[in-house]
Amino acid sequence: MKGRDRILLGAVGGALLLWLWRRRQAPLDLADSVVLITGASSGIGRAAAHAFAAQGARVVLVARREAVLRAVQEELAIYAAPTLVVPADVTRDADLEALVGAVLAAWGRIDVLVNNAGLSYGGPLEEMDPARIRALAGVNLYGPLNLTRLVLPVMLRQGGGHIVNVSSVAGLIGAPGMAAYTATRRGLARFSDALRRETAGTGVHVSTVYPSWTATPILGELDVQQLYDSRVLNGWDGIDSPDIPAMAIVDAVRSRRRVVILGGGWMRAGALVERVAPAALDLFWRAVVDIPAYLAAVRRLGA
Ligand SMILES: NC(=O)c1ccc[n+]([C@@H]2O[C@H](COP(=O)([O-])OP(=O)(O)OC[C@H]3O[C@@H](n4cnc5c(N)ncnc54)[C@H](OP(=O)(O)O)[C@@H]3O)[C@@H](O)[C@H]2O)c1
Repeated sequence: MKGRDRILLGAVGGALLLWLWRRRQAPLDLADSVVLITGASSGIGRAAAHAFAAQGARVVLVARREAVLRAVQEELAIYAAPTLVVPADVTRDADLEALVGAVLAAWGRIDVLVNNAGLSYGGPLEEMDPARIRALAGVNLYGPLNLTRLVLPVMLRQGGGHIVNVSSVAGLIGAPGMAAYTATRRGLARFSDALRRETAGTGVHVSTVYPSWTATPILGELDVQQLYDSRVLNGWDGIDSPDIPAMAIVDAVRSRRRVVILGGGWMRAGALVERVAPAALDLFWRAVVDIPAYLAAVRRLGA
């Protein structure tokens, strides 16, 4: 065997061993960790709050509606893990500064940040109210970036932490009628990748979770049957319960997964095709999907 072949074989063997070793690492114990979740008053954030509290974590519940957060806090009493309610609008700098200050005053650390709060509006771009585009950019992109900017120094001082950015499969596969939402979700995902490389070796981990269609209030008045009729949904995939992305978020932290794509193999295949052969996905949308039916469905998102 030539020297170059030996080096190549050694590199492949080393990479395989490293991969096996990482897979064998026991999942992290989250008991007593401080976990801050935005958008905890509803849907995926609320389910994630349950999932983290069930692991014994101390959960900070963040959203705008304080009364709803208090109701979630009451639900979490069954786990006997401490919780903290901090009402905040993620688009407001002062709210986020006060939020980080309140968590540090109460518990002195932040181990996990879940950037989950989000909005969704659909419909043809030329019909979209600019106020909605601004709201999407504010809640789905500016908020998580700014909150991460504030939490990161805390984690770096501690010598470790984990940031989970909740994007969407729409951030992997561009969907007509959701161009503005897609842009914010893709932006958050690429932010995640960049930050993960920026924080490498510091003890701070960064994950991106890409939920697929999930039954939460974000869907607004969306008619699921219409989605099936448009052929965007089919026999292979459907609508997830919020527990599925919630468990994926917890698992991303416990097993230090960089990326979790939900929605099954169909979505992962679509994401791959989008990357390597976008023309094939253009063809799929034109040849398979009933676009007018699909646009009529997504126009009701967030309504
Ligand atoms: N459901 C899906 O099909 C789906 C699919 C892919 C990705 N996702 C992503 O999953 C995340 C959670 O969505 P969801 O489905 O759980 O939606 P949801 O049930 O509507 O929850 C959205 C949460 O965001 C909070 N929020 C909205 N604007 C806010 C603001 N300005 N400041 C602070 N909190 C704010 C809401 O609380 P308040 O109203 O009390 O502030 C609520 O708790 C989003 O990022 C979404 O893009 C969802």
